[in-house]
Amino acid sequence: MIIVFLGPPGAGKGTQAKLLAEKLEIAQISTGDILREAVRNKTPLGLKAQEKMNSGELVSDDIVIGIIKDRINARDCGNGMIFDGFPRTIEQADALSQLLENKGKKIDLVVNLDLDDQVIIERLTSRRSCPTCGAVYNLVLKPPKQEGKCDNGCSTPLYRRDDDSEKVISERLRVYRAESYPLIEFYDGKHLLKTVSADGSIEDVFAKIRCLIGSEL
Ligand code: AP5
Repeated sequence: MIIVFLGPPGAGKGTQAKLLAEKLEIAQISTGDILREAVRNKTPLGLKAQEKMNSGELVSDDIVIGIIKDRINARDCGNGMIFDGFPRTIEQADALSQLLENKGKKIDLVVNLDLDDQVIIERLTSRRSCPTCGAVYNLVLKPPKQEGKCDNGCSTPLYRRDDDSEKVISERLRVYRAESYPLIEFYDGKHLLKTVSADGSIEDVFAKIRCLIGSEL
């Protein structure tokens, strides 16, 4: 099964995509995670992407399409894939359709997570992540068991993403509306889109998404 998660920053795409990928035993592909790892490792890709990411702008289509082109050929993608944070522009969406078509595959479902800006800002300003295993927490809504430490026993302290300041969050929301919002109409026109309210607990949102998947299978 091939699923795309759409939605504004902080709507819970990463949280839900991870749960669903584990449930369906398919690959989770997050361009944000791939880019952040490249930034951490100071690779040529990371050095190119860092400035855009820190200011809340999109990394160029060429770069992210190149990442996806390689990633979908990995062995763990054989059973299916969940795209989280990709595509973000119509050009990326066209490229994804073409890359999948070349492999004889197609998108089965696009889940659009909908959430108000105020809740987004609350969630993102209190998000903390583990740099070692990528686990995502929230100081208010999903705190780690021990302050500042990952529940998975990683030795590195939890950190706040550079783009989770209020100033950069506003820019990310502006960029989302300008560049990514048109994807909702794009996928609706292809009869692939289902919108889910991302308000409510992580478990409640996941239950709604599972219902959707059930009705698609
Ligand atoms: P990316 O990492 O994709 O960021 P994003 O889309 O802004 O999304 P986030 O990761 O901020 O949020 P999310 O929706 O995954 O929410 P999460 O589950 O973490 O991209 C970062 C940057 O990389 C971009 O700005 C761009 O520069 C670049 N980039 C990436 N992909 C690109 C592309 N395709 N093209 C061009 N550039 C690209 O949840 C947020 C918080 O809320 C967490 O603390 C979580 O614990 C909590 N939470 C989640 N769900 C709930 C719930 N139901 N109730 C309570 N708390 C919740």
